[in-house]
Amino acid sequence: MCGIVAYLGDRQAYPILIKGLHRLEYRGYDSSGIAIINGNLNLYKRKGKVSELEAFVEGKDVSGTIGIAHTRWATHGQPNDENAHPHFSQNKELSIIHNGIIENYNSLKEELMKRGHIFDSETDTEVLIHLIEDVQKNETLELSEAVRVALNQVVGAYAIVVISQNDNQRLIAAKKGSPLVIGIGENEFLIASDATPIIEYTRKVIYLEDEEMAILERGKEPEIKSISNIVRTPYIHELTMNLDSIEKGGYEHFMLKEIFEQPHSISESMRGRLRPGEGIISLGGITQYKNKIKNAKRIVMIACGTSWHAALVGEYLFEELTRIPVEVEYASEFRYRNPIITEDDVVIAISQSGETADTLAAIKLAKEKGALILGICNVVGSSIPRETHAGSYTHAGPEIGVASTKAFTSQVTLLTMMALMLAHEKGTISDSHHQQLITELSNIPTKIEAVLKTAPLVKEIAEKYKNSRNALYLGRGINFPVALEGALKLKEISYIHAEGYPAAEMKHGPIALIDEEMPVVVIAPKKGNYDKVVSNIQEVKARKGKIIAVVTEGDTEVRNMADHVIEIPDTEELLVPLIATIPLQLLSYYIAIMRGCNVDQPRNLAKSVTVE
Ligand code: F6R
Repeated sequence: MCGIVAYLGDRQAYPILIKGLHRLEYRGYDSSGIAIINGNLNLYKRKGKVSELEAFVEGKDVSGTIGIAHTRWATHGQPNDENAHPHFSQNKELSIIHNGIIENYNSLKEELMKRGHIFDSETDTEVLIHLIEDVQKNETLELSEAVRVALNQVVGAYAIVVISQNDNQRLIAAKKGSPLVIGIGENEFLIASDATPIIEYTRKVIYLEDEEMAILERGKEPEIKSISNIVRTPYIHELTMNLDSIEKGGYEHFMLKEIFEQPHSISESMRGRLRPGEGIISLGGITQYKNKIKNAKRIVMIACGTSWHAALVGEYLFEELTRIPVEVEYASEFRYRNPIITEDDVVIAISQSGETADTLAAIKLAKEKGALILGICNVVGSSIPRETHAGSYTHAGPEIGVASTKAFTSQVTLLTMMALMLAHEKGTISDSHHQQLITELSNIPTKIEAVLKTAPLVKEIAEKYKNSRNALYLGRGINFPVALEGALKLKEISYIHAEGYPAAEMKHGPIALIDEEMPVVVIAPKKGNYDKVVSNIQEVKARKGKIIAVVTEGDTEVRNMADHVIEIPDTEELLVPLIATIPLQLLSYYIAIMRGCNVDQPRNLAKSVTVE
């Protein structure tokens, strides 16, 4: 995690860096800091959010046209002023910002201490900038060369930018494992962890590859080389995202905006791919591997958090439609347990950010074992899509709220399209059922618009349960992952303890928790095992639990039993998760707001988890 941003150009760096930090704050908000060269190297840093840094620097000298800035999610050392970035080198002439982890920092630190280095912080990052200074002095190297030599001694992940008080002409950046984007404007360069701080100034970007470094000098073309000193010709990409997509657009929070964006984001996921009129689904990114996938003996889906819940929905979809056995794995477990993966397996990695360290490591492992790796990611140009053999972007647009909402429904949309396309190719679905599902999938955005109209009702329900200490979420079949996702949303943004269960599992333990205080959210559409869910609701009512039921429009049976019902439009059973998730997102949002929580930046979390 952590967000880095740097500027070199003709304008004042400070406003650009601060705005960039605000855009990257979703990546971590334990502390932030800034270093700008104006004759001196002026460095300011503060525990807490970027707004606290802004207040701290008021009245201080922040002028200068070259600078670096950082917003931190703490890994090594507490979130305090000392551990905040940027860090100085020993002689305070160099400064660094870093996203990632230097794994061998302890041994490097010991060596440096023997040579007289004194450290102000507990961070691995400070060790790296001391090492760079040490290499530079001992070998009398110019700075970029010292960075390169030092990086060859480092084990771990990094996206760094280094500046020197003695050189206001150059930024030196390097990357391995953590993301780094370079924006190339008119007489100016920007560097950031993602494109959001850059888009306002230029659309031309370079994505550095792992173990590459960039030397950006005023008035010159960017110089890119590997850390083994091989010169590389950079490929300049054109950004397609627009500024509106990274601003709140009148909503109070990014999370609410992103919840309400779902009719649009799902349409974007389907655009050009789902063609109901022709009865076709075409996913260009995986066409080349269609035969291999449809003939796979097994599909393994790997992901973390909300993306793992999307994978669980994917399991139901793929098994039901393609009849290929699917296993869903937490990437963090998969990578550490010598998993059985062969060349006959197809692995689908799902990630909004495309940067999740565990998912990335799991992909590399499965790749070594010869499996075909597909990716379903949202952030274009991120690390996972570059590590996979093929895949499809979700095209949900930037998701800034830390709690994932629209990314989840877009992932499920993509998995639905993939499963349908393969099932049709494979002949495991009839033409008419295929057409029926395609048509219904194309209607989902309109149906979500209808669900979003329940927001005032959901808000009233939230008011009643905002002081609950626990909550249970129940669902069956394809809606079990929806229950898990509903519970995760509630706990991560409102800090209320919540659990998701397959409805029938409740009687094997969790039922003991039910009393008149306990809200139980049940996904109870009039599909599949409806009658069984109704029985589960009765079991809760018999113990005086409070039922909040998500039901199909017009349902009367559950309405007569439940304390509250939220109606969703009728749809195909396999598509219910796309709709039923929405009221659960809204419920968490309103409860969290009523409890005074910061929904866009929940405590201890970060959007992009680039550490194990
Ligand atoms: C929850 C949430 C996280 C992420 C998880 C994986 O709302 O956002 O659980 O889903 O950290 O992140 P990605 O999808 O970026 O790999």
